Amino acid sequence: MEVANSLTGQKGIVKNFINGGANFCQSGVNLAPFLQAVARYIVDQRKALIMLLSARNIQKTYVTADGPFAVLRGVDLMLEAGETLALTGESGSGKSTLLHVIGGLDVVDTGTVMIDGADITAMDDAARAKMRRGVVGVIFQQFNLIPSLTVAANIAFQARLSGTFDAAWVAALVDRLGLGAQMAKYPEQLSGGQQQRVAIARTLAPRPRLVLADEPTGNLDEDTAASVMQVMRDLVAETGAGLLMVTHSTALASQLDRRVLLRAGQIA
Ligand SMILES: Nc1ncnc2c1ncn2[C@@H]1O[C@H](COP(=O)(O)OP(=O)(O)OP(=O)(O)O)[C@@H](O)[C@H]1O
Ligand SMILES: [Mg+2]
Repeated sequence: MEVANSLTGQKGIVKNFINGGANFCQSGVNLAPFLQAVARYIVDQRKALIMLLSARNIQKTYVTADGPFAVLRGVDLMLEAGETLALTGESGSGKSTLLHVIGGLDVVDTGTVMIDGADITAMDDAARAKMRRGVVGVIFQQFNLIPSLTVAANIAFQARLSGTFDAAWVAALVDRLGLGAQMAKYPEQLSGGQQQRVAIARTLAPRPRLVLADEPTGNLDEDTAASVMQVMRDLVAETGAGLLMVTHSTALASQLDRRVLLRAGQIA
């Protein structure tokens, strides 16, 4: 509805500009460049509404003991629903920072992040937290499991919080990620690779529209990484979600629809 209203509004804007432009043209002024810029702006706005994720001109500077450090310097990134995108770049290039601001876990200095047509950079903390629970799922570089909860409770945690717990879906996730024998254990009793699979299951349990994954197979051996990757791609495809995944592995990156490289805080 919001999208429809906005598009109707855009049509009105276009008509006004065309009428205005025609009047000016009669007076001999060349309005073509201006009208082209307006058309570009409208197309961009429309894209941002249609896209699952639209990050525009993201800038972020950390204040460090050595002075300001510009970690993101005008990043633009788009993702459609159902699309999978690999984010690569050397260590320290800002990949995790970018994922955190897209996931609403950190704030930008400048720029906008729109998810499903909603501008999360304009939301207050409470609205952003709600959006994070329901729409966006993040798989962290460090798994962030809750140590006092069993594997089963960790996996169900976010889905229960957002009221989207579905026992059959969770059972299928557990099965496909090979976690059936670990459900009663606590995170500290698991290997790094098992903890990572629990983190993946926990994130996918509420069926997020947008999955952000920071090196989700970084702690897995090559074979397990390949099978976990396959499961993630299948699950994301089944739910129609978009996947933005940070990876250092060119082999994994090549399995996704698109690849972008972050270099010195900008998309190269
Ligand atoms: N809270 C912070 N304060 C100051 N500088 C920070 C902070 N967090 C990150 N940085 C710096 O910002 C840069 C980007 O960090 P980030 O974690 O986004 O890199 P990355 O691309 O994810 O690296 P890696 O591949 O090693 O995970 C690094 O130089 C890091 O030292
Ligand atoms: Mg990182």
